Amino acid sequence: MKIDVKNVTMIYSSGRKALSDVSFSLKSPEFVGILGPNGAGKSTLMKLMTAGLKETKGEILLDDKKLLDQEQKLKSRLGYLPQTFGLFDELTVWQFLDYMAALKGIKDKAEIEWAMEQTGLVDRRKIRVGNLSGGQKQRVGIAQAIMGHPELMILDEPTVGLDPEERVRFRNIFSEMSSERIVFLSTHIVDDVQAVCNRVLVIYGGSILFDGSPAGLIEQTVDHVGSYIRKVDDILPKDCEIVSKINTRNGVLTRIVAKELPDYVDRCEPSLEDAYLYCIHNSVKREDEHEG
Ligand SMILES: Nc1ncnc2c1ncn2[C@@H]1O[C@H](COP(=O)(O)OP(=O)(O)OP(=O)(O)O)[C@@H](O)[C@H]1O
Ligand SMILES: [Mg+2]
Repeated sequence: MKIDVKNVTMIYSSGRKALSDVSFSLKSPEFVGILGPNGAGKSTLMKLMTAGLKETKGEILLDDKKLLDQEQKLKSRLGYLPQTFGLFDELTVWQFLDYMAALKGIKDKAEIEWAMEQTGLVDRRKIRVGNLSGGQKQRVGIAQAIMGHPELMILDEPTVGLDPEERVRFRNIFSEMSSERIVFLSTHIVDDVQAVCNRVLVIYGGSILFDGSPAGLIEQTVDHVGSYIRKVDDILPKDCEIVSKINTRNGVLTRIVAKELPDYVDRCEPSLEDAYLYCIHNSVKREDEHEG
């Protein structure tokens, strides 16, 4: 399976431009994470890729043919976890999954059992969805997305609301599944991507800023990360972004990313978190320069 997003621009009827000229391709098998802050355009992109919205400009192809002309084919191969979804509160976990299986044309009940096992819902099967905790509801959402072992999994912030242990568990489930299919997952948690994705897209302001391996993103940040002890009234170096501040006996140990680090800053080995912030910082700076 292959998906090509070609020069896609999305402008909502309100006039809001959510994506501008976005292009990339996904090809089975791969595990791709899309990282971006709130409002970057992640959910909009995923809705377009699942035929829930129509792009304003450009096109999306599924195996070289227009995605929107093949909705049936898409639906039978797609597992989609939207960022927000309504569950039917009156149905039990099993009834809900059975209903979703029917919609997707999944006839094998073993798929429902398997999805419940993977998501730790087996002992909740008779509980009404409305009586589940937030994290358990999220697991039901994940269960319906992985059910049927779809060839394409599009997961919009799947780990939101899960406790750390569960997050790791689900990461591993997705990672295992990605060996035979496309898994495309959005997040703003860098750790989610670091641990498992072999490719990362960084999106900001509706544009893709980076598309490559996590190591490649880190590579372009070498010499742009530093730390120094900051005294109370020290001013911040120009054009830098603070990554973290830790109180120490001598002052505040401040970690920054910047295009040019001042001399008094000690160079640090960049992490993926640094690299992501630097990528966005650089893009914001460029915008400022255009405007100023
Ligand atoms: N239905 C809509 N009508 C108008 N504007 C919208 C609509 N949905 C989203 N937007 C706008 O499009 C932009 C991108 O939103 P989107 O939901 O795709 O971002 P996101 O990256 O998923 O953010 P988050 O991390 O908060 O989920 C935002 O500026 C948002 O306000
Ligand atoms: Mg979103």
